[in-house]
Amino acid sequence: MAESAPAPEAVSAVDVVAPFFEPFALRSMKVPNRFAMAPMAREFSPGGVPGADVAEYYRKRAAGGVGLIVTEGVGIEQPAAVDGTGVPLMYGEAALAGWRQVVDAVHSAGAVIVPQLWHQGVLRNPARSARPDLPGLRPSGLWGTPGLTSYEDDYVAQMQTPTRPMTDEEIADTIAAYASSARNAIDVGFDGIAIHGAHGYLIDTYFWADTNRRTDRWGGDARARAEFGVEVTKAIRREIGEEKPIIFRFSQHKQQDYKARFGETPEELGITLGALADAGVDMFDSSSRRFNVPIFEGSELTQAGWARKLTGKPSMTVGGIGLNNWLQDTFKGRGETLAVNNLDEVRQLYDRGMFDMVAVGRALISDPEWVQKARSGAPFTPYDATCLGRLA
Ligand SMILES: Cc1cc2nc3c(=O)[nH]c(=O)nc-3n(C[C@H](O)[C@H](O)[C@H](O)COP(=O)(O)O)c2cc1C
Repeated sequence: MAESAPAPEAVSAVDVVAPFFEPFALRSMKVPNRFAMAPMAREFSPGGVPGADVAEYYRKRAAGGVGLIVTEGVGIEQPAAVDGTGVPLMYGEAALAGWRQVVDAVHSAGAVIVPQLWHQGVLRNPARSARPDLPGLRPSGLWGTPGLTSYEDDYVAQMQTPTRPMTDEEIADTIAAYASSARNAIDVGFDGIAIHGAHGYLIDTYFWADTNRRTDRWGGDARARAEFGVEVTKAIRREIGEEKPIIFRFSQHKQQDYKARFGETPEELGITLGALADAGVDMFDSSSRRFNVPIFEGSELTQAGWARKLTGKPSMTVGGIGLNNWLQDTFKGRGETLAVNNLDEVRQLYDRGMFDMVAVGRALISDPEWVQKARSGAPFTPYDATCLGRLA
């Protein structure tokens, strides 16, 4: 009888993640490993000022092994940028002093940190804000055609009333506000800048043909619709110089419609992302609901894989890493959110060249030491369903 071949040795959990603990550099920013904390708005900064508790919240995740922290969305220097009064801001003496504490705390724990600059645009709810008199800024006055959305019907109906399109002056002011806020961030010690260009907020509504019906230089074909994001990126690059990296978050899905896309084909997606890369983006933070889902028929590439292939720039993946479900299931209480170790699948996609960094969201709110556990192969702590409602 022929001798049977020895069974292939099982790859240990520690070996699976080994490549994720290799350092990674973007311009002058040296990230100690490939794990990032995904940007997550928490609204725990009263009056826009992040306090010592916010510094401690980020410090804990850095001490728990995260290499790069992308902060929660931070309002840029414009009164109509964000709604909730607990959303932190990137301007004003008190807020900047708060951010300096956050940055110092994260650096002391060995990680690097970038702020996610945020303008909510059409998704800003004036009624939640300190300035209910100011409407949200919209490229063409449109909120977007609602599709698969988590917003309540009556809210969507209310937001459907068209407002006026942004004026040239408002566009110029907004671009300048991104640049001055980026300057403020670098001045208080951040290691780079992240731009929120996803999820149906302001920049994304320029990309999306449904909300951008402009016929001037800011609207038209895919390249013209990229122009606002391009000018924001260039203005930030001019302001912060060549040393610090710019990370750009994009998503096909919108909160107005999770099935919407701004790039209907790889070519169209490539036009937008290529223009952003040429403008100075160093890495694409590809926001998808699940990290492992292909986005165009006939190809196994995920959204992060396409970003990398189309631009030649590094990309970061996100969505359901360490968890069994996607964000909206957690928010809506559909089924139970369970901690799972799916890092072997993450590794398979990494080996196929789909991304360079791995961003973890909810799992890191629930468990600040998640990255250390991933490294040692220790079992993950069960997901804590109450974690989104508290700062710790
Ligand atoms: C509480 C919460 C707040 C979020 N806020 C932001 C945000 O400010 N900016 C952003 O780009 N994404 C935001 N997201 C999306 C996350 O960055 C991430 O893409 C998403 O949670 C999927 O990752 P996960 O499955 O690991 O949680 C938020 C997610 C959560 C859970």
